[in-house]
Amino acid sequence: MALTDDLQQFTAEAEARFAAAADPAALEAVRVALIGSNGREKELAKAFAAAPPEDKRALGPVFNAAKQAAKAAFEAAKARLSAAAEDQPVDLSLPVARQRAGSIHPVSQVAAEVEEVFASMGYEVADGPHVELDEFNFTRLNIPADHPARDHQDTFWLDHPQHGRGARLLRTHTSAVQSRSYPRLKPPFRRVVVGTVFRYEAVDATHDNTFHQVEGFLVDQDITVAHLVGTIRTMLTALLKRDDIEVRLRPSFFPFVEPGFEVDVRLTKADPASRFARWMELLGCGMIHPQVLTAGGIDPEAWQGFAFGLGLERLVMIRHGIADIRVMNGADLRSLRQFGAGTAL
Ligand code: DAH
Repeated sequence: MALTDDLQQFTAEAEARFAAAADPAALEAVRVALIGSNGREKELAKAFAAAPPEDKRALGPVFNAAKQAAKAAFEAAKARLSAAAEDQPVDLSLPVARQRAGSIHPVSQVAAEVEEVFASMGYEVADGPHVELDEFNFTRLNIPADHPARDHQDTFWLDHPQHGRGARLLRTHTSAVQSRSYPRLKPPFRRVVVGTVFRYEAVDATHDNTFHQVEGFLVDQDITVAHLVGTIRTMLTALLKRDDIEVRLRPSFFPFVEPGFEVDVRLTKADPASRFARWMELLGCGMIHPQVLTAGGIDPEAWQGFAFGLGLERLVMIRHGIADIRVMNGADLRSLRQFGAGTAL
């Protein structure tokens, strides 16, 4: 019977090849080829399963004997090789192979610190989906369809089988989490979001199509711009780890706040020739627009709040003196290792 021959040949081959394996790698290769999950033994098992029932009674013991012989040959070879390894003298003077521990990406590092600073001020950490509805990204933030403010944020629109063309998009800012949060929260509350956002941008030294933003918002009673400025100062002092941060507010327009401001910072002790000694635009902020509160089911007569949003990469660049945003999303480990927390061993 052909299968009997095959089984005998398999046994002989297993015994010879396991006995000949000279090192653990060779042993493993033979194991995979003969008794691994896709090996020769599995093929024989399939042939056995397909054999006519009247042949199986005779074939069964032959098949089992072949299996056992292969396993025994494998175990014997394994024992032989491990005994040989123990006999090897150990040279303690050999240099140890250098190991590198991974390090935390500078953006992740600052993201974790942002969450920590805000948690210490009683903020809840939240996030929302990257694929967002037009409604949350724009409409409920007081940016209706056809409003020119939409053009400020170059958008990746998505088609969706149920929601149609343009109802969904890759969120252009973490402000979308404001409008998502309001209907679910009862004031007073404070939240911070650190997340990825997407813009249909050409990539250069200061723009990327995928980056990260921090969004903070707080709703309570008797909240003023002074609370907002105090919060921003606390955040920047903690994150930039410097005592020379100067902050300036300029009136600006964002549809979801009124009044709205742009915050600039400069570092008074930085080298006067560097860009960090000059005013740098860092974030947008303001008092949450009554329309935005109303759209979220919050009574603007009873509650007020502030919101702010900033690019995380910008913050990392200031902190580490990095001139090009592409360093951070590029995969060049030589650059990233310089900024990582955690060191090479
Ligand atoms: N969402 C704005 C952007 O991506 C940033 C921003 C500005 C957020 C003002 C705010 C704000 O919360 O109050 O450009």
